[in-house]
Amino acid sequence: VGHIDDVQELRKNKSSQIPERFIRDTTERPSLDKAIPHSRNKIPVIDFSKLVKGTKDEFSSEILKLMNSCEEWGFFQVINHGIDLELLERIEKVAMEFFMMPLEEKQKYPMIPGTVQGYGQAFVFSEDQKLDWCNMFALGLEPHYLRNPKLWPTKPYDFSETVEIYSREIRKLCKNLLKYIAITLNLNDDIFEEMFGVAVQAVRMNYYPACPRPDLVMGLSPHSDGSALTILQQGKGSSVGLQILKENTWIPVQPIPNALVINIGDTIEVLTNGKYKSVEHRAVTHKEKDRLSIVTFYAPSYEIELGPIPELVGENNPCKYRRYNHGEYSKHYVTNKLQGKKTLEFAKIKN
Ligand code: SIN
Ligand code: FE2
Repeated sequence: VGHIDDVQELRKNKSSQIPERFIRDTTERPSLDKAIPHSRNKIPVIDFSKLVKGTKDEFSSEILKLMNSCEEWGFFQVINHGIDLELLERIEKVAMEFFMMPLEEKQKYPMIPGTVQGYGQAFVFSEDQKLDWCNMFALGLEPHYLRNPKLWPTKPYDFSETVEIYSREIRKLCKNLLKYIAITLNLNDDIFEEMFGVAVQAVRMNYYPACPRPDLVMGLSPHSDGSALTILQQGKGSSVGLQILKENTWIPVQPIPNALVINIGDTIEVLTNGKYKSVEHRAVTHKEKDRLSIVTFYAPSYEIELGPIPELVGENNPCKYRRYNHGEYSKHYVTNKLQGKKTLEFAKIKN
C-alpha cells in the first residue's frame, strides 16, 4: 500500500473522485438509502455494575438479558463497565494523534502481511481485491511473544504507555464478561479462563476518513471476528459507522457515550455449538465526518484445541463444529480476506 491507497492522503486531496480500487461492485455497496426504522435500531444494553454488585434480583435479570443478547444478537453494549472514563479518553487521544501524524512517520511501522500488525490495510491479498476506506494500526499484546517492539510507535510519546494500561483494564473486563457468559450457559464460571490458557490479546485502531461517496465504498468489509470476544470503543464525536447483520438487515450500532460495544467471536460460536452467534458486521463511511474505533480481540492461546463444549451438544443439538487448533484457525483467519462468515467454514462439520 503506497501513498495512493492511503485513504487519509486521498482525503487530503479533497477530490470527489474515488479511485477504482475502492469502488465496490454494485452488489457489494452499502445501500445506505435503505435506512431501517429507528425502533428496531436498539441492540441490547447491559449494565455491568448490576452483574458485579447488583442485588440478587438485579443480577438475575441482567444475566437473563446477557443470555438473550448473546443468543439473539451476538452484540451488546456495556455501560458502567468500571473502566476509568479518563482512560477511554486517553486511548482515543493517542490513537487520534497517531493517525494525524504524517504518512512517512506512520509508515515506519508498516503492516506485516498475514499478521495484522502495524499500520496500513490488513486482509489484502491480491491486486484486484477491493480496498476498504480505512486505515488501521494494530498491535499484538499478549502473550508477550506476540509483541514486535519495532512496531511500537515512539510518537506520540505516551502512546505505548497508554496502550499498555488500557489493555490491562480491557483484559480484566474480558475475563469478567466470559465469567458471566459462562453463567448464562449454566457452566462453571471459570470454564473459559481454564480452557483458554494465557489468552491472546490484540488491539486494532481503525480510522475511517469522511468519504465523498459513502454509497460506493465500504469502511470495513463484512466479516465475523476470529476472536472469542471483541471489545469495541467508538470514538467520541465520530460518525455512526458500525452495522450488524440481523435477519438480513444491516442495523447501525448507535454509540452510547462511554459505553463499550461487545461482540461474540467465532470461538464462542464454536464452543457453544452455535447457541451464541458470531454475528456478521461491517463499517460504513460518512460524507462529512471521520470515524475512529479502537478494537480489542480476546482469544484462546494458540496451542489450545477447541470444539463444542460437551454439555452444549446433545440429541436435539447435534455437533456442528469439529475440533481444531486455535493457532491454525487464527492463521487461517489472518491469511484470508474478510468475507462474511466464510472463515468459520474452517470449523464446520459438513453433512
Ligand atoms: C471491526 O469490526 O473490527 C471494527 C468495526 C468498527 O470500526 O466499528
Ligand atoms: Fe469485527
